[in-house]
Amino acid sequence: MSITNTPIWRNLISHAHSMQSKAIASLFDDEPERASNRIIQTCGLTLDYSKSKASNETFKLLEILANQTGLKGKAQGLTAGEMLNNTEQRAALHTLLRARPGQHHPDLKNKYSEVEVALKQVERLSREVRSGTWLGSTGKSITDVLHIGIGGSYLGPRMIDEALTPYRDQAINCHYVANVDGHHIDHVLADLNWERTLIIVVSKSFSTMETRVNATSAQQWLLQHMKQDDLDKHLVAITNNVSAAIEFGVGRENIIPIWDWVGGRYSLWSAVGLPIALIYGFETFRALLDGAADMDQHFLTADFHQNMPMMLALLGIWYHNFLGMTSHAVLPYDHWLRLLPDHLQQLDMESNGKSATSMGETVDYTTGPLIWGGEGTNGQHAFHQLLHQGTGVASIDFLLPLRPHHDRTEHHDWLVASCLSQSQALMQGKTAEEIDADTSDLVRSHKVMPGNRPSNTILITQLTPETLGSLVALYEHKVFCQGMVWDLNPFDQWGVELGKVLGENVYKMIEGAANTDIVDPSTNNLTEIYKSIRNGDD
Ligand code: F6P
Repeated sequence: MSITNTPIWRNLISHAHSMQSKAIASLFDDEPERASNRIIQTCGLTLDYSKSKASNETFKLLEILANQTGLKGKAQGLTAGEMLNNTEQRAALHTLLRARPGQHHPDLKNKYSEVEVALKQVERLSREVRSGTWLGSTGKSITDVLHIGIGGSYLGPRMIDEALTPYRDQAINCHYVANVDGHHIDHVLADLNWERTLIIVVSKSFSTMETRVNATSAQQWLLQHMKQDDLDKHLVAITNNVSAAIEFGVGRENIIPIWDWVGGRYSLWSAVGLPIALIYGFETFRALLDGAADMDQHFLTADFHQNMPMMLALLGIWYHNFLGMTSHAVLPYDHWLRLLPDHLQQLDMESNGKSATSMGETVDYTTGPLIWGGEGTNGQHAFHQLLHQGTGVASIDFLLPLRPHHDRTEHHDWLVASCLSQSQALMQGKTAEEIDADTSDLVRSHKVMPGNRPSNTILITQLTPETLGSLVALYEHKVFCQGMVWDLNPFDQWGVELGKVLGENVYKMIEGAANTDIVDPSTNNLTEIYKSIRNGDD
């Protein structure tokens, strides 16, 4: 039975009718302690959801929805290694990757031993590179890392690397290349000294086209200067497909495994996070894992009203399925967190951008929202106009670290004031009567701000490796809870496959080994236009 036919879903629909026009500001009158009540604190994070468009009744109904979905049990199943990825017959065990020693689920002893061995490899490699004992083929230490990977093999480590910038203690730089666009690798290789560069090829499948093409170009660049045997000093792979990595030319000792039970978008906690250990040290990487493990414990043990991931998830469902908001914006008021929306796009949209339930029925309700966002305060001078006055209302998370890593108090006071006042403006709006009396009617109508637009604020005591780990795990569990309520399999991504297959065929057409039968006239024509330029026919 579809969730839309359950009494709780119908109750939420009728409750939504009464809440659509309810003023968020009036909820503070209905619930005098709302500002301090509607707060959850854990792991150095404070979720303030008092500016949500949700009443006591809404929260009661959302709790019933969470209970009827069996979210508590599903969370236990996730960490215990249940086969939740039913279309690929796999567990989804990213929580095992960050479990503290001795704190893993008893049934997962063998898998945890493998995790420990891989972590030891990450630790050893990072210590050798950082201490200068890992030497390139000409005896020089490593100063630059070239990380080649895409999707989950790129977005997570790149985002964490940038977010931890204040913790940089050594001059080792990591350069990330994901896109197959040759401009990127061309540009990056031009500035690298091959004698001091370590290349990490990261691909769970070791068959992803972009990574294969970029890795081949990087390998050829190395081979212009050294013999095949010397590649071991400069080439490392992180993969689940060890034989393909060996065939590519990576030495067996230089391959660190990941497992099929780690989804790409959840893989930064595995050896995929090697750049973090290389740049910041293994202890910092471990601190990141610890922060995520703390959030896992919170998720597993806190009651619904105190459970940060569950509350974020259920509020998101309320906005998306019942109040008709089709997108969700993540707005970090921290320069170093500016890549978080990119990471969350893959995490959320690749997980819950689905139309079939886990048992293969077509859904009759909306599933994952469009996720987007950008760095505050920059967004205020760009897309916030739409948030304040546009017709498509988005749900919003404002993220704000309280303690910066600099001493520029004036800057930080302004940053904080900007963030807090944006959520205030969205909630309160501005009526026609509040606009100067001498304003013309025309201009007045343009200055009116509808207000009554909800948001969450997530305060971060300070952005540290631990709180960053907790924050990313928070969003992982939010996405998981939503996937469970929508009855999806959030751990597969079949929707990306067709494009890969058709891409292969168009590539063959370009190369002259075409199968034009399976190409439509438009794609065929566009391919021919490209070929005429490429082959110099024009
Ligand atoms: O095409 C989508 C995807 O499979 C993602 O799920 C994954 O993170 C990315 O490609 C990269 O895959 P791989 O690590 O196997 O190269």
